Amino acid sequence: MCGIIGVVGEGSHAKQLTDGLRRLEYRGYDSAGLVVTFSDGEMQRRRVANGKNSLSELELETSEISSESIVSGIGHTRWATHGRPSLPNAHPHLDCSERLAVIQNGIVENYAELKVELIEKGHIFSSETDTEVISHLLEDEMRTGVTLLEAVKRSALRMRGAMSFVALSLDAVGELVGFKRMAPMIIGTNGDQWFIASDIPAILDQATSFFHLEDDSVASITKSGVEVFAKDGSRSEMTEFVVDWTLDSAEKAGYEDFMSKEIFEQPGALRDTLAGRLRGSGEIEFDETSISNDDLARINKVFIVACGTSFHAGMVAKYAIEHWTKMPVELDISSEFRYRDPVVDERTLVVAVSQSGETLDTLAALHEAKNLGAQTIAVCNVVGSSMARLADSVLYTRAGPEVGVAATKTHTAQIGALLLLALKLSRIKGQLFPSEIDGLYQELIEIPSKIEEVLDKWDSIRSVAQTFSERERFYFIGRHVGFPVALEGALKLKEISYLPAEGYPAGELKHGPIAMLDKNAVVIAMASKTRLFEKIVSNIEEVRARDSAVIVIGNSGSESVIREGEYFIEVPQVHPLLAPLVDVVPLQIFAYHMARIHGEDVDRPRNLAKTVTVE
Ligand code: F6R
Repeated sequence: MCGIIGVVGEGSHAKQLTDGLRRLEYRGYDSAGLVVTFSDGEMQRRRVANGKNSLSELELETSEISSESIVSGIGHTRWATHGRPSLPNAHPHLDCSERLAVIQNGIVENYAELKVELIEKGHIFSSETDTEVISHLLEDEMRTGVTLLEAVKRSALRMRGAMSFVALSLDAVGELVGFKRMAPMIIGTNGDQWFIASDIPAILDQATSFFHLEDDSVASITKSGVEVFAKDGSRSEMTEFVVDWTLDSAEKAGYEDFMSKEIFEQPGALRDTLAGRLRGSGEIEFDETSISNDDLARINKVFIVACGTSFHAGMVAKYAIEHWTKMPVELDISSEFRYRDPVVDERTLVVAVSQSGETLDTLAALHEAKNLGAQTIAVCNVVGSSMARLADSVLYTRAGPEVGVAATKTHTAQIGALLLLALKLSRIKGQLFPSEIDGLYQELIEIPSKIEEVLDKWDSIRSVAQTFSERERFYFIGRHVGFPVALEGALKLKEISYLPAEGYPAGELKHGPIAMLDKNAVVIAMASKTRLFEKIVSNIEEVRARDSAVIVIGNSGSESVIREGEYFIEVPQVHPLLAPLVDVVPLQIFAYHMARIHGEDVDRPRNLAKTVTVE
């Protein structure tokens, strides 16, 4: 949700900003822009608002700027919240004197009242954005004679909402001032230069050391280093963290797009996520924890909170935790959890599942869970992300950076991590013997090779997608853990190909959705061999009777369930609770091909951003 980058120090140049924005583009691509300042006290701004072409055009325009004597710069890629995608609304935003520039990720919730106040004072606005309020607010403070740093400190106290922003001013050449509150922002350095950015990939090839900022911190960054201040104005510290992602992992490495690369990276991502977690018979370890096994033994309920694809991984975990621990598991969409009265106390374990670890709704739900006294654990992919730091314990998925907006490898890695959590809880609750846990762990670590077998079907799944590419509607049905897989299949298809797609529990079809079935619909049925196989076969019959096309995802030996003109995609048979790890892969591939056949950009679907840091 908007990507921001800033650089300051010897040899800074504008290409560092556009290169960084390239790696942040998954956060939004409604417009792109930058400002650079020169040692003689001049500044130049470039902005482009041309959808997905914005960054390429900005790169072209920026190439004309001489790198000589640039001392600092800020760049932004936008996902529009306040104000439609347009040039006037593109960041950076200037103040009236055009001596100060701001980029923001997040929302200034009280921007309207601040804007009225600033207009009354004579400030002239040239955009509809909330961000421009920050520029004028800073200008207003600086008119009283304070420094840029002091202006940011004072203005931050007046603004409500989750946001991170960076400002620079010609009255403070060579300084960037950043503010972070509930929206991601990290700092990096290579010794000569300092960087500030929304996410690690933006500066992965430039920085050698990386630091976190706490919420409500203000950071003044110059070529000599960083000074950080807490909300009360006192000096505070940044925390260094280790990044073991390689640059390669953030590049396409010969693939046509990130999404196909990341689909193929799934066996490795899952292997890394599972590796070395079993320490001693039946003992699964978290990465970081302040919750003891005794504390976990007192837990009598689990609550999983997540959004989107992460929610679907959480749903698989619900089935596994209930089955293996006999504890009740509640599951909630994060944005619902925080605004109702969830029944949570100190005997509840709240599990926040999030690839980015920054999704605002899930982060807020985690805060709420902590306020209610729950024990908390974060399952995140981004090391040191806000949720990872907030939760009492962390279980990392080790999927590496995921750049494609549609989550793929992090989804299967999340399911893997959550199944480990389920096994850990079952051990603590004494529901499974250590030898049973060891056996299930062994089955888990064999899953990556089963996923490889599905990846081999890449071309044949493309033919299936081609066959149905003109159909109007797609329904994914499944039972038990096949239901979250169906939901995920539908989400993948709609988010990258924009085709109407829904996921349903197969047994629910007859309670309404069946009315939508006709010859223009395709039904994709998750039919792995489980005790519910015959029931799903009956549901397939119901579909057939309504003339809809049928695609069955099933195991060897079940091919006979299909009739002439229908399609069977074989997936290896595995333990029923582990099946989502394998069964979701053909659906990802199907969605990918369908989007490509329709000429869509799979890495940058319209209206979406990968990390959603607004409510
Ligand atoms: C779908 C997708 C989104 C995310 C959701 C949560 O492909 O990527 O639905 O799963 O925005 O994001 P995280 O996992 O970062 O909290």
